[in-house]
Amino acid sequence: MKHTQALQGQIFELVTKASEELGTPSYVIGGFVRDYLLKRGAPKDIDIVVVGSGIALAKKLAQLLPEKPEVTVFKNFGTAMLKYNDIELEFVGARKESYHRNSRKPVVENGTLEDDQKRRDFTINTLALSLNANDFGKLLDPFDGLSDLDKKIIRTPLEPGITYSDDPLRMMRAIRFATQLDFKIQPASLQAISENKNRIQIISKERIVEELHKILACDKPSLGFALLHKTGLLPYILPELIALQGIEEIEGQRHKDNFWHTLEVVDNIAKTTDNLWLRWAALLHDIGKAPTKKFHKKIGWTFHAHEFVGSKMVYNLFKRLRMPLNEKMKYVQKMVLMSSRPQILSEDFVTDSAVRRLIFDAGDHVDDLMTLCEADITTKNSRKQKKYKENFKLVRQKIEEVEARDHIRNFQPPISGEEIMVTFDLKPSKEIGIIKDAIKEAILEGQIPNEYEAAKKFMLEKGKEIGL
Ligand code: CTP
Repeated sequence: MKHTQALQGQIFELVTKASEELGTPSYVIGGFVRDYLLKRGAPKDIDIVVVGSGIALAKKLAQLLPEKPEVTVFKNFGTAMLKYNDIELEFVGARKESYHRNSRKPVVENGTLEDDQKRRDFTINTLALSLNANDFGKLLDPFDGLSDLDKKIIRTPLEPGITYSDDPLRMMRAIRFATQLDFKIQPASLQAISENKNRIQIISKERIVEELHKILACDKPSLGFALLHKTGLLPYILPELIALQGIEEIEGQRHKDNFWHTLEVVDNIAKTTDNLWLRWAALLHDIGKAPTKKFHKKIGWTFHAHEFVGSKMVYNLFKRLRMPLNEKMKYVQKMVLMSSRPQILSEDFVTDSAVRRLIFDAGDHVDDLMTLCEADITTKNSRKQKKYKENFKLVRQKIEEVEARDHIRNFQPPISGEEIMVTFDLKPSKEIGIIKDAIKEAILEGQIPNEYEAAKKFMLEKGKEIGL
């Protein structure tokens, strides 16, 4: 069967022409073909393998294109890239050795298409479509990738140990594809991952994190984390999560297994948000529970201040994985730190001032925080489940009411420090802070409304009180 349908458009015609002119056959390979056959989403970046020079083909194609796009050449890797209508086309010469751009191996011995296919990661990624005039659109599938697509199997074209040692990141890629596509990893492959797990240590943190992001972005990320756990990769990557695993029992008192609970929370949140960093927060929201766990004869298990400890751990974890130590990290820290607040609030009578404080502390992220807390409900007791959900609904309602009235979300003090200085004829001093803080507290407590006149009156009283 010919798959010309996948290869419509000027760009493919011109690749064919360029290949012909250079006398070097070329093929679309990898994700583009796989996703086309799976009918998965809009066309993405296109990988083209050339029996000849990838760089020469890219340059030839650029000449033929009316837009004359720029060609980026990665000389060390013998690859070239150009952009066409926001799609990246990557050109690589067929090789005998493992070719991956990020792999450290010095590569490049020219090979046939099949040589190249067999050094790729999974059979479903070896599928290639011919771009050559004589058999345009023909599927070249020497490793039965099509049948694996059908059977939903992740399998390596070579003996798994070889494929994984060519690039140990592939162990994570196997798990990521299994999670994304809802495929099973072939048992021999799974076994090879378990055996080679420690080799993940030679892979750069950036590449590992990219796979973690992709797993977290899946519909059911727990599938991936469960596989990372099962194969023994997880302790090398996120030991903080492994530490949450297990149930301890003392004097008949048990606590829940916080590792599996966490995975449920991540799946729950994946149903309601695509915000990657909120998904990270869900993954990490309980990490402080391992170091804070204690058993007390009278009250049983406690995890005192685990939110605080957890939020501190987020920093070290991000640093270790070379993740950004910027506002994204601060956001995750904040979510972890505040992760129990709405719950504590909902267990009691929900007062306006408690809601104001919640909004004040969470700021613009108060909705995200509620989303996290709702995802945190994993009880199997349907009566409790219903009750918790209703409680949070009430909190959400209250947040809306209070916010509409008091505008706490992006709190700006109604009286500026400047005005306090002028009113009391003060030089910069701690009194200004005291008064500002007192005004803020009075607003949050509901003593005065969040308005200028009321705040001014309050300021004058407060000034008197502290002898100004
Ligand atoms: N590849 C490989 N080993 C790797 C990375 C990539 O063999 N460690 C090969 C695969 O044939 C893959 C192709 O390079 O299909 C392109 O890699 P990449 O763009 O990372 O993945 P895609 O398969 O395109 O899928 P996605 O973009 O969803 O990650």
